[in-house]
Amino acid sequence: MPEQNRDELKKELMAQVDKNNIPAHIAIIMDGNGRWAKKMGQSRIVGHHEGARRVKNIVRFCNDIGVKHLSLYAFSIENWLRPSMEVSALMRLFSTYIIKERDGLDAENVRFEFCGRRETMPPKVMEELDRIVNSLKKNTGLTLTVCINYGGRAEIVDATKKIIQEGYKPEDITEELISQHLYCSDILPDVDLMVRTSGEMRTSNFHIWRAAYSELYFSPVLWPEFDSVEMLKAIISYQKRERRFGMTSEQVQE
Ligand code: IPE
Ligand code: IPE
Ligand code: MG
Repeated sequence: MPEQNRDELKKELMAQVDKNNIPAHIAIIMDGNGRWAKKMGQSRIVGHHEGARRVKNIVRFCNDIGVKHLSLYAFSIENWLRPSMEVSALMRLFSTYIIKERDGLDAENVRFEFCGRRETMPPKVMEELDRIVNSLKKNTGLTLTVCINYGGRAEIVDATKKIIQEGYKPEDITEELISQHLYCSDILPDVDLMVRTSGEMRTSNFHIWRAAYSELYFSPVLWPEFDSVEMLKAIISYQKRERRFGMTSEQVQE
């Protein structure tokens, strides 16, 4: 689609958005970098670099529209199974990307968080990520949470271990207690809208606990081609739904 028509489409969609019903936490499974690269006759690594370039636009757009939390699935625990060259290129990309974007995020008042299993992260990458997290802590706009070495089941296993180490008894275990022991528990709320790009219709171990009642949106667009128009389509779809949380429609509308 020509650029001008895309801008017009964006304006049209913006007019449909209810500014009072913006999902507070959007989680995105950024999928399709490999297929995009294949389509372009490039290596998978080029696909990941192109994917990383999309992040800035989506963060800026979500911040402008009033989203409070954006969590991005960048590397799953299962992704360690990929060829070691791809894994190391991805790990390098995470630290170089965030170092490069740090000042831009700061200028836009964005906070930054890491969510995942810290212990098995490459120490140098973890050090860089921690440094940026600390330097953007004071910001009050959107919180960008990058999920690296993240697995929803691993998160629940790690929470359970902490609960046992802290000496809780079976009768103390509540949903609230488990929530309080998840990664980033003091920052990250439940997911309102989970988006997956590239046409795959699964959640691949992302935010298992926090997404128990999230609305799901599957976009056919590959992540390196996902833009604010596609994000708007997801938000508008979310706003057309009725979140019932187990109740009846009549109860929700009361
Ligand atoms: C998502 O793109 C990025 C990561 C999982 C790191 P993929 O690399 O999974 O892309 P496809 O699924 O092969 O197209
Ligand atoms: C999920 O994508 C993980 C990320 C986007 C980081 P994958 O491409 O690894 O998921 P599966 O294995 O196809 O489900
Ligand atoms: Mg994939």
